[in-house]
Amino acid sequence: MSIRLGDEAPNFKADTTEGPIDFHDWKADSWAILFSHPKDYTPVCTTELGFLARSKDEFDRRNVKIIGLSVDSVEDHMGWAEDIAETQGAAPNYPIIADPDMAVSELYDMIHPGEGDTSTVRSVFVVGPDNKVKLTITYPKSTGRNFEEILRVIDSLQVTAATGLATPVNWQPGEKVIVPPDIPSDEARERFSAGFEEKKPYLRYVDQPG
Ligand code: BEZ
Repeated sequence: MSIRLGDEAPNFKADTTEGPIDFHDWKADSWAILFSHPKDYTPVCTTELGFLARSKDEFDRRNVKIIGLSVDSVEDHMGWAEDIAETQGAAPNYPIIADPDMAVSELYDMIHPGEGDTSTVRSVFVVGPDNKVKLTITYPKSTGRNFEEILRVIDSLQVTAATGLATPVNWQPGEKVIVPPDIPSDEARERFSAGFEEKKPYLRYVDQPG
């Protein structure tokens, strides 16, 4: 069954490159990004896992734990990590789940039979501190992901979690944010006295709080 926004992220136990984990225990009350890649020792995946390793500070700064997954073994993940370090400048510094029996891939609907074989597609799940799924994205195997966009979405999700505000098209941190329809203008004017701007009754901007 597919996983929808707002669902609890299903829990599982699995072997990883950093030892066995229980997903919810491992994640605890952090944010997390759970992503699948099709196969070890493949070119696009190599660039993705290297980018994530080089960007780990950006995820740490946002209190986001990273965990990868493919249907390969821990041994394969470990051997491939050396190639990632050699070609991408950093080895994975986050756990990668070994899912040869496809238990987690099936739980998260990461195998799409129309996409060629029984390897996983490029799924991304962002999970909040409350263990609820906040974002799902699925990319085809042939397209490397834009993890800068995933960081941007996490910034937006964290603004919403902290303030209840929304973010407009192509928003970047520091730009004006949007008062969602469920906050009346009187309340918004009071809560966000600086920088409240009403272009239409339904299109209201405020400076990003904080
Ligand atoms: C890759 O990571 O390069 C890849 C994996 C599966 C299909 C196509 C590309």
